Amino acid sequence: MKKLKVGIIGLGTVGTGVFNVLQEYNDIEIVKIAVKNINKPRNIKNLNSNILTDNAFEIVNNHEIDVVIEVAGGVNPAVDILKAAILNKKHIVTANKELLAKYGSELFKLARENNVIILYEAAVAGGIPIIMPIKTILCANKITKIAAILNGTTNYILTKMAEKELSYETALKQAQELGYAETDPTGDVEGFDAAYKLAVLSTISFNKKIDIKKIYREGITKITAQDIKSAKELGYRIKLIAMGQVLEDGKIDVRVHPMLVSKKHLLAKIDNATNSIMLTGYPVGNLVFTGAGAGAEPTASSVVGDILVLKANLNASDNPNPLPQAICNHNERANQIDIGDTYNEYYLSITASNSPGVIGIIGTICGKNNINISTIMQKGINTDNTAEIVVITEKSKESDVQNALNELIKSDSIQKIDNLLRVMN
Ligand code: HSE
Repeated sequence: MKKLKVGIIGLGTVGTGVFNVLQEYNDIEIVKIAVKNINKPRNIKNLNSNILTDNAFEIVNNHEIDVVIEVAGGVNPAVDILKAAILNKKHIVTANKELLAKYGSELFKLARENNVIILYEAAVAGGIPIIMPIKTILCANKITKIAAILNGTTNYILTKMAEKELSYETALKQAQELGYAETDPTGDVEGFDAAYKLAVLSTISFNKKIDIKKIYREGITKITAQDIKSAKELGYRIKLIAMGQVLEDGKIDVRVHPMLVSKKHLLAKIDNATNSIMLTGYPVGNLVFTGAGAGAEPTASSVVGDILVLKANLNASDNPNPLPQAICNHNERANQIDIGDTYNEYYLSITASNSPGVIGIIGTICGKNNINISTIMQKGINTDNTAEIVVITEKSKESDVQNALNELIKSDSIQKIDNLLRVMN
């Protein structure tokens, strides 16, 4: 059997995990590894520093290499490097969700034209097998719904806020100390990472190109200890949910935002850095995939899995077009709806004057805007004579809710809208 020759771009946490796992395969040779700094001290067993380069083009232009493994992340220079690799007829295995979300169409088109394959199991939910199952054994299904926790860092922060009644800032600091959150946590806490993963996941699930720019995105930075406490009292946990659904008229609703998730819902039970994806499809029904969404070894499981799948298919001499189902072929653009046109149940937290008729004012404004209140709760009186009021609504249109908020904030009796979150039962 022919040895598969690979080049790795990136030797951080994931790259090191991939390097270590590949040591167990005598029929796969790592020809070169591209790193930012060759001289950085590295304590990696069996690593021959002679194969390191600080020029990734030495990998993509190397005639010996069959497969380029990109685990460096980011868009620049990854997009140019991978385009060059594809033009040089190299197959690609990547964990780069941002690159696929932003340049997927372009890269897959180029790959088709050059008869090479791009595999990316590690790009969505690290170690959880989700891309290959959707593209292979689930391809008889029409998937209509995704509800998922796709970011471990934010799930860890929200779990600690709930378990230990911590503020967002304290929980973030602990996540940074433990290495979950980066020094600049924006990518995770503002929902970008989850949105990139959702763009990739919903494109292959719904078989239509999802535009990352049209995915509504909200992070977890505005969630307070008080929101977590109120949610708990009402029977909910707060989670950063990545969701997608095909509506009856064929339009697609894709978004990432925090939600109050009923304690009875499976996703409410997914704690710490774990990821989970619920899919609804016909004929399969509901499926749940749960596991580690990050980390060296789980992510290496997906990357090396892709490499072995490629290897097995490339060695099959009677198969000139390996993995036909894994090739991305979405020509049609999704008709993505605006957040204003979505329907949700809502949690609304308000600071109001402690004066007669305030609950009536809230009720009247909600009623005027077609919002039916299902729960309203006053949570005592603050020392400055304001009252914390929490409202849960029945299913309402987002634009109606935004109109109601604008009216509420103009009322002399309302000091502040503390938070508006959507609810999943
Ligand atoms: N930072 C991500 C997370 C993992 O916290 O889940 C890589 O996408």
